[in-house]
Amino acid sequence: MSGLRLEGRTALVTGASQGIGEGIVRLLGAHGARVIAAARSVDKLQSLADELAEKGIEVHPLELDLAAPDAVASRIKGLPEPFSEVDILVNNAGITADGLLARMSLEAWEKVLRVNLTGAFAVTRAVSRGMMRRRWGRIISISSVVGLMGNAGQANYAAAKAGLVGFSKSLARELAGRDITVNVVAPGFIETAMTDALPDQHREELLEVIPLKRLGSVDDVAWAVLFLASEEAAYVTGHVLNVSGGLYL
Ligand SMILES: NC(=O)c1ccc[n+]([C@@H]2O[C@H](COP(=O)([O-])OP(=O)(O)OC[C@H]3O[C@@H](n4cnc5c(N)ncnc54)[C@H](OP(=O)(O)O)[C@@H]3O)[C@@H](O)[C@H]2O)c1
Repeated sequence: MSGLRLEGRTALVTGASQGIGEGIVRLLGAHGARVIAAARSVDKLQSLADELAEKGIEVHPLELDLAAPDAVASRIKGLPEPFSEVDILVNNAGITADGLLARMSLEAWEKVLRVNLTGAFAVTRAVSRGMMRRRWGRIISISSVVGLMGNAGQANYAAAKAGLVGFSKSLARELAGRDITVNVVAPGFIETAMTDALPDQHREELLEVIPLKRLGSVDDVAWAVLFLASEEAAYVTGHVLNVSGGLYL
């Protein structure tokens, strides 16, 4: 059998109701994982689970609001068999609340930090104990090139995304002794609802500065995640994999 198979593994993907998270659920599922798909929109998660069940892919919808990180551990503890032991965690959920610093409210700052960074902390803490006990795990967080290079008008988002890098590198050191790898995927501009909203002129300016001359696809990001989630990536930890068409070099 060729590589990158995830049979017998259980993955938890946050922000799975659309966009990049949904694409990751599809790709990990297609490569043999059973997947817990987490987000607030349970209806969307249920239709995804129903659709993939027809292809023989097991998906368990989990209603999870990362704006309330205190409740995360009990939601994850309540997962039924065979979804109760998470081997692969993908911290993908993320929001924006953009604005220049002078006009950025404390609320907009705290909300983005809470969902994008504290949310990832809460989910990671909840699943890491089981990974440590079983001495195997993959933790992958979806950051952004904005966290590496900054972006005017996104100080809160960039701070949260950069925070995921420091968080992941620290955990890579903490958890290496248990064969748990911890990595980051940093997408550039990807074709999703987030970027559909870009005005045409902005889109054209973007293509000028992306060496590969296109926006990325959800699958471009999902393949990077699949690799890091696989057995074959066992010797890669603490890495930031930039999937940006060369926007960030
Ligand atoms: N699109 C891009 O160009 C791009 C580039 C770089 C990085 N990224 C990052 O990639 C990730 C996915 O982006 P995307 O474009 O796919 O975003 P998206 O289409 O806006 O999807 C965001 C996901 O996060 C979930 N979410 C939002 N608030 C939540 C909350 N309070 N609790 C739990 N889940 C919540 C949403 O589900 P519910 O609303 O159902 O909860 C949704 O599934 C994000 O972390 C984003 O920052 C995206």
